Order: sequence, then C-alpha cells, then structure tokens
Amino acid sequence: MTELDYFKEKICIVTGANSGIGYALSEELLKRGAVVYMAGRNPEKIQKATEKLSKYSDRIHEVIVDVTIQKQVQKAIEDVAEEAGRLDFLFNNAGVGGTLQYEKATLDDWKTIIDVNLWSVIYGVHAAVPIMLKQGSGHIVNTSSVAGIVPMPFQALYSLTKFGVTGLTESLRYEYAEKGLHFSTVCPANIATPIFKKSIDGTVHDHVKIPDDAIPPKIASKLILNKLVEKQGIIFVPEELEQFWHGYVFKKLEDHLLTMAHERRESYAEKGNYM
Ligand SMILES: NC(=O)c1ccc[n+]([C@@H]2O[C@H](COP(=O)([O-])OP(=O)(O)OC[C@H]3O[C@@H](n4cnc5c(N)ncnc54)[C@H](OP(=O)(O)O)[C@@H]3O)[C@@H](O)[C@H]2O)c1
Repeated sequence: MTELDYFKEKICIVTGANSGIGYALSEELLKRGAVVYMAGRNPEKIQKATEKLSKYSDRIHEVIVDVTIQKQVQKAIEDVAEEAGRLDFLFNNAGVGGTLQYEKATLDDWKTIIDVNLWSVIYGVHAAVPIMLKQGSGHIVNTSSVAGIVPMPFQALYSLTKFGVTGLTESLRYEYAEKGLHFSTVCPANIATPIFKKSIDGTVHDHVKIPDDAIPPKIASKLILNKLVEKQGIIFVPEELEQFWHGYVFKKLEDHLLTMAHERRESYAEKGNYM
C-alpha cells in the first residue's frame, strides 16, 4: 500500500477544517480518497470551505461543533462513528495562537486559550478512545506546535497549552500501543495561515505579517499525512525542526531563545507586535 492509498475510504474527522492547516489536511485527505467530516464552529465558514472542495462532495460531510463545549464534541464524534460505522482518524486541529507579553495577558485570555487549545483535545480524546478501543483500531492526531516542544518567549500561554497537548498525546501513544490505537503529535513551525493575524479573543489584526519563512499549509498537510502512514509519534513540520528540538533538549538554544526574547520585547515596545 502506498502513501497515497493508505487513507482511501478512511473515516476522518478534522476540527478547525474551515481554515489553514485543517482545511489543507481535509483537502489532502480527500485527494487520497478519505471520507472527511469537516468540523467547524461557524456554519457559514464550513459551508464555504466544503463548497471549495465540491468535486469531492460525495465524501465530504459538514459538522458544526464548538470544540470548547464538551457535550458538542462528544455528540459530534459519537454521531460520526454511528453514521459511518467507525472512526479511523480524529484530527484535533482547531486552535488559537497566543504570542503576547505575559503581563498583558488577562485571566480571560488564559481561560480562552486553555479551553480552545487544551480542553478541546481532552474532550476529543475522551470521546474517541472508547470508540477506537471497541474497534481495536484508530489514530488520534493532535496538533501541538514547535512551542509545544520548545518553550518560546512571549508565548507562555500558548506554550502551556501545547506542552499539555504533546504530553497527553505522547503518554497515550505508549499506553495504547498494545491495543491497536495510534497517537501522533503534530508540531509545526511557521505555517502560512490566518493564525498570525488573530488574537486569543478572535480579534483580527490585518496589519500583522505572516512570517517570511512560513510554509504553505498544502506542503505541511502532505508531510503530516505521509508521516501518519509511518505512524510517527511526533511529526515535525518541517522535518528539520527535530534538530532545533534536540538543541533545546541538549541546552544549546540558550542564546538563541534569549536573543529572541530580547528582539520580541523591543518589537512590542516599538510596534506593539512581535514581528
Ligand atoms: N500556523 C502556524 O504557524 C502554526 C504553528 C504551530 C501550530 N499551529 C496549530 O495548528 C492548528 C491550526 O491552526 P492554523 O494555523 O491552521 O490557524 P487558523 O487558520 O486560524 O485555523 C484555526 C481553526 O481553529 C478553529 N477554531 C478556533 N476556535 C474554535 C472553537 N472554539 N471551536 C471550533 N473551532 C475553532 C478556527 O475556526 P474559526 O475560523 O471559526 O475561528 C479555525 O478553523 C492550531 O492548533 C494551531 O495552534 C499552527
């Protein structure tokens, strides 16, 4: 079986599917023959996204779910498994960014980012594991970040949530390995999506630039799916990110991270944002 037909007829749920990485993953899964339940909280946005992929309409389903509401997540996942007869892949991808000065963060910011980035994943895992255990198969793919393996300055809130996602996913990967369940943590560096322009509360800042080194989501999604075929635990996007992580683990990034902190502090003082 090749990387291209591995996903054929697989039943997949992708959260945050109307935008960025979630949209690109949905498109790539559809190209590879999967049945994709594209989940989003805003019916209009999800409809717009599925319309763009209408050539795959016989294999696309729309799911409206706010990932911060446990009952909605539970019902959405159970409904898909019942309708489709099984659940092969759950992509807990929805999330918000959060690069800001720690002293500017309100407790509401903390609550929101933990709800969207961490509780959402816990809710998804909670609903999907019993279904997959019953099947004796299934793969849960949780989106963390480079900030979920290397703590980035001015991203304390975001890093907290993403380290949580990495820890949860890696721990379960070992716990369920003998049960036929697979877990992967996706750790992207900069991917060119609208996330850079949004604050935690959803405000859009059009003037904020997407970083020049950001990778197109289409390229990221292909790499992610290829690594899922290999059942890779932590998926680095791009692959060279693994070396960066080793640098942190072996304490070789001290100067780099201190310089980054200094530059971000100056940028906030000058422009009010970090780029
Ligand atoms: N882009 C990067 O550089 C990068 C790097 C590392 C990690 N990541 C992670 O990758 C994932 C996808 O982000 P992205 O870059 O593709 O950003 P994006 O284009 O902004 O997409 C985020 C998605 O999450 C959805 N979402 C947010 N809150 C939600 C909620 N309460 N319920 C349901 N859906 C919700 C958004 O829906 P709405 O459109 O309705 O808001 C949107 O579809 C996130 O977990 C992010 O942390 C991204």
